[in-house]
Amino acid sequence: MASRTTGPAAFDADTFRHVVGHLPSGVTVVTTRTPESAFGMTASSVTSLSLDPPMMLACLNRSSPTSCAVSQAGAFAVNVLGEGHEHLAQQFAVRSDDKFIGVAVVEGTLGVPVLADALAHIECEVVEEVTGGTHTVFLGRVVEAKAEEGSPLTYFRGGFGRFEFARDDEVYQRARQQLLERMYAADAVLQLDDLAHRLRVEKSAAFYALTRLTADGLIRRDPDRGYVIVPFDTRTSDETFDARCAIELGVIDMVVGRVPQDELADLRIRFEAMAALLVGDRFVDFDRYLDANYAFHEGVVSLAHNGALTAAFGRLSIKTVMTRSFGVTPVTSQKFIDAQRRITEGIEQGDPDAASAAVYRYTRLAKQRVRQILAQTGGLL
Ligand SMILES: Cc1cc2nc3c(=O)[nH]c(=O)nc-3n(C[C@H](O)[C@H](O)[C@H](O)COP(=O)(O)O)c2cc1C
Repeated sequence: MASRTTGPAAFDADTFRHVVGHLPSGVTVVTTRTPESAFGMTASSVTSLSLDPPMMLACLNRSSPTSCAVSQAGAFAVNVLGEGHEHLAQQFAVRSDDKFIGVAVVEGTLGVPVLADALAHIECEVVEEVTGGTHTVFLGRVVEAKAEEGSPLTYFRGGFGRFEFARDDEVYQRARQQLLERMYAADAVLQLDDLAHRLRVEKSAAFYALTRLTADGLIRRDPDRGYVIVPFDTRTSDETFDARCAIELGVIDMVVGRVPQDELADLRIRFEAMAALLVGDRFVDFDRYLDANYAFHEGVVSLAHNGALTAAFGRLSIKTVMTRSFGVTPVTSQKFIDAQRRITEGIEQGDPDAASAAVYRYTRLAKQRVRQILAQTGGLL
């Protein structure tokens, strides 16, 4: 399109800054590395661009050293800051010789620095640079992305703040419990109006619950039918647990006996954090147990330092399967912790047979437990 040469005079920049400050945003730190140095800058003009292929865009001032470095490196990471990270936002918004001083950093897949405490990080390869006013718009193809549980830091009218869902979690929790107790038939369509009616809440609250349940994998959004209950049966859970078992057995075969001390120590910490959340035969807090259990098994798989295996593990939707089975009741069994303790000890002692036997046992226990729970819950499936 031809650029305009006539029309109203350019809008006054100060007024624009004031008005555009009313557009709330998250806060990120965009990081990169050149052969000389690591760079990072606070940036809120960052957003997702496309899902297929996954792409991001970041608008960085051309005069900023970080912007030049991203251009030179052809890669960047978007580190999404969490609640309480104001100090990081401030540190990376001021020009300095060592922006990373006192900041925990790990190296990302693309060799760029990734902030270890960030709520999420997304690594991108630059595929295009577009100039817009004083800024370069970097279009990036996503090559790695990972998120942690937590709340984001927000930015509005020049100040940092907290994010709050418009609705508290209560409606979502009730809807989730109904789904877990199988009050809805598998593959049935869940209408927004029906859900609102059943829960006796406003449609907007029911919509919020649907969105979260979709993210949990309990419901899926079908383009033609709407929200559909994802079926769940023992075949689904057996396949998932067997796939995890196969991955872990492969890892044990590859690495046990050669795992460095710091990685053994990390695995032990993950195990103890999980074990603390199962007291007697009850979960202290199921959602926290679920995260800790995931972190433990991810720790086992990552001993292989094989990105393809870790990614395959991530794609198993273990959390969804566990939510749909174990999440129905706070009651469980210490046998699960015992089996996982033996996995840990087998790896620590360099004994692949003991570790593999424990993985088989843990898998058998999980499969049996799902059968028991589904038999008790009954429902419409
Ligand atoms: C909350 C916040 C958001 C910011 N967003 C951007 C942005 O999107 N793009 C940009 O170029 N600068 C942005 N800045 C300013 C840069 O962080 C700042 O200029 C920084 O010093 C640039 O780092 P560098 O000059 O060392 O590369 C933001 C600053 C703050 C505090």
